[in-house]
Amino acid sequence: MVKLTGYKKVKAAVFISGTGSNLKSLIKFSKKKKSPISIDLIISNNPKAKGLRLGKINKIKRKVYNFKKKYKTENQILSDLKEHKIKIICLAGFMKVLSRNFITKFRGKILNIHPSLLPKYKGLNTHQRVLVNNEKYSGCTVHLVNSKLDSGKIVLQKKVKISKNETMNSLAEKVLIQEHKLYPKAILKVFNL
Ligand code: GRF
Repeated sequence: MVKLTGYKKVKAAVFISGTGSNLKSLIKFSKKKKSPISIDLIISNNPKAKGLRLGKINKIKRKVYNFKKKYKTENQILSDLKEHKIKIICLAGFMKVLSRNFITKFRGKILNIHPSLLPKYKGLNTHQRVLVNNEKYSGCTVHLVNSKLDSGKIVLQKKVKISKNETMNSLAEKVLIQEHKLYPKAILKVFNL
């Protein structure tokens, strides 16, 4: 899907809003020789996102935007991405919905991770809804982003079994562990590696 040119890693930007545990796993992965990407930019809509600290520690350029004027903000982000020669975007706990205009500019080059087995449980409060419905399994999905929420082509999924006394927290924790493994694998798959 995404072609590697020469030996250089493809520059990626990671968009976050919170803790950044997926960002952490992506940074770790990006430093490996086998990784087709380097992480050159972190974008957040939240100045208090803990994940921004990871950027600082790892000397990765960070930019924070408030999305009050979405169209204007997205255009600023697009010019930042151009300036940093970013070719692929990884959304990792990014809580803003990108516009069709933005997505079109990076068609097929934006990935997202979602804590459910899509197409089931799109949107927010995933774990709560899964438990209310007495599901036997849940999991996580890495997918390409299109203009519909959590609906683009699925790249990879990982299933987890729900235990008898599962709580929202225990399920979130269980799924998150798998997310950290799944995102790097999905990136390798996108690059046909
Ligand atoms: C993850 O569960 C991700 O799937 C969801 O938001 C959470 C972000 O966690 N979209 P983190 O910020 O990567 O720790």
